[in-house]
Amino acid sequence: MTRPPYFRDIWILGPNGTGYPGGFPNGLVPAIKRKWWGSRRLWICSGSHRDESGVCLDIKREVGPTVVGNAEQLPFRDGSFDFVLMDPPYSEGEARALYDLPYLRLRRSISEAWRVTESGGHFLFFHRTIPTNGAELELTGLCGIIGVAVLASWANMRALTVWRKPHRLERWS
Ligand SMILES: C[S@@+](CC[C@H](N)C(=O)[O-])C[C@H]1O[C@@H](n2cnc3c(N)ncnc32)[C@H](O)[C@@H]1O
Repeated sequence: MTRPPYFRDIWILGPNGTGYPGGFPNGLVPAIKRKWWGSRRLWICSGSHRDESGVCLDIKREVGPTVVGNAEQLPFRDGSFDFVLMDPPYSEGEARALYDLPYLRLRRSISEAWRVTESGGHFLFFHRTIPTNGAELELTGLCGIIGVAVLASWANMRALTVWRKPHRLERWS
């Protein structure tokens, strides 16, 4: 069998310690850091996550992000970050029940995240779905798909999908 040209793995991690609904599993960020990282980092839909030298953006002021903003219209210039991770609510129902918010427009938010990712930088998307070319998105440069689970009575499986945004010349070749 031919191996796909991207990293594949399953990470079984510890429960989130903050108690914030949908919070990152314990150990996720260090595991990501070992594979993909940047010096200008943006966390979209950051919730309880903190990054002293990065930018955390969430629509909820009360969670204390660096920037209060909407993922559908990011207040940053094109290519501002070399590492962008987005962890939105996972469904309309969860957006309402867990955060009392309407479900964001996923395509629009992903396009915004991609816009602010610089060429050569990484965009990581954490969700229950894996957007691919058929999702009418411009995403190219897929470099990783990781199943992420926390073992609980009902294990909540999520996927971390990673793209490296190609440089212009790479896009032509
Ligand atoms: C799955 S949680 C993120 C949890 C985070 N990774 C953590 O470790 O705490 C989803 C977050 O998306 C935020 N959110 C929902 N709609 C948003 C929008 N349109 N723009 C920005 N943030 C939004 C919610 O306020 C919530 O904090």
